[in-house]
Amino acid sequence: MIEDQRFVVTIDGPAGVGKSSVANAVAKQLGAAFLDTGAMYRAVTLAAIGDGADLNDESVLLEILDSKNFSFDVADDGMTVAIDGVDVTEAIRDPNVTSNVRFIASAVKVRERLVDLQRAFACEHERIVTEGRDQGTVAFADAGFKFFLTADVEERAKRRKLQLEAAGKKADINELIENIKKRDAGDEQREAGALAAAGDAVIVDTTGLSFEQVVEKLVEEIKNKN
Ligand code: DC
Repeated sequence: MIEDQRFVVTIDGPAGVGKSSVANAVAKQLGAAFLDTGAMYRAVTLAAIGDGADLNDESVLLEILDSKNFSFDVADDGMTVAIDGVDVTEAIRDPNVTSNVRFIASAVKVRERLVDLQRAFACEHERIVTEGRDQGTVAFADAGFKFFLTADVEERAKRRKLQLEAAGKKADINELIENIKKRDAGDEQREAGALAAAGDAVIVDTTGLSFEQVVEKLVEEIKNKN
């Protein structure tokens, strides 16, 4: 726990709700560093796949964490991620990483280590906006500002479809809905760090709201409380 609680904003919520872009924009407006904790789980997943590791073997995953240098740095449009000096910011978004990240997210000791890294990141920055699944419940239970974003699964799938299409990729809406439902179930049923709103989080249903409206709502709440 961070004793001299400074300025910590947590934004949790399910897959595809738009947490990363919202958190990044909120961080920019508040002059805070943005921490994308999903990128940490993705980086360990990528490294483990690259090593041909058994993703169910927690001790192997811990060894990977110990033997490689993972770096997470603040960049203008998000966070950059490197493993042993190699930039993997794009590679961690690969669908193969997305479909295997659940193994890493359910490894309890790996979670503890990543939560330590998240708290270390907070110690290095005056102000942070962090997003994930357990930021308001576990990593920063004492945070001054907590949000939980939600949206209908159909809406999340539609947003994802638009993102993919903008990147020149085709996507089937029903397949996207099924994938999101599967990820929700995995996130909610995990033994540690399960997806849940903190009791003191402000719950924001973003269905029908534009990106700008969500950002504005969060910034307003923070300014009013400050
Ligand atoms: O937000 P994302 O899709 O990049 O996250 C990737 C995975 O990491 C997601 O399936 C759940 C997991 N995760 C987690 O367990 N805890 C967090 N704080 C952030 C992400």
